[in-house]
Amino acid sequence: MRWIGLISIGLLVACASAIITPTEEDVQRVKSRYEDATLVALQDGKQLFESYCGKCHPYKKPHKYSLEEWKKILPAMLDKLEKKKGVQLNEEQKHHLELYITAAHLRKKG
Ligand code: HEC
Repeated sequence: MRWIGLISIGLLVACASAIITPTEEDVQRVKSRYEDATLVALQDGKQLFESYCGKCHPYKKPHKYSLEEWKKILPAMLDKLEKKKGVQLNEEQKHHLELYITAAHLRKKG
């Protein structure tokens, strides 16, 4: 019966993988674009993404949109978050979200 447990774990991992867990490798990749990228900043961005980006629609996958598109999409979403949900993020939080999305995008998944 152990295989049933293994299959369940496999499914859980598959579903959760829309959201990546940042690592030092991600930091290095993101640093090529944003010098100030750190693991703590990416982890903060991940938490913000989890908290706010699945409120109105299922989590969208960062790699499905180009980084150019994200430069327009993210501010539009932050605006919606503020106007529709009354959540105002500060500049640092917005930047951390951008770093997280870039990390997930560069991994080509999540
Ligand atoms: C207040 C509701 C709301 C919140 C919060 C929200 N979105 Fe959206 N989002 C929408 C709506 C409405 C659309 C357009 C319809 C759709 O694609 O579901 C959309 C569309 C999108 C799209 C597709 C854009 C396109 O041009 O096709 C992406 C990507 C996206 N959101 C990402 C995010 C991210 C990342 C966050 C967190 C910062 C976020 N959303 C938070 C409401 C929201």
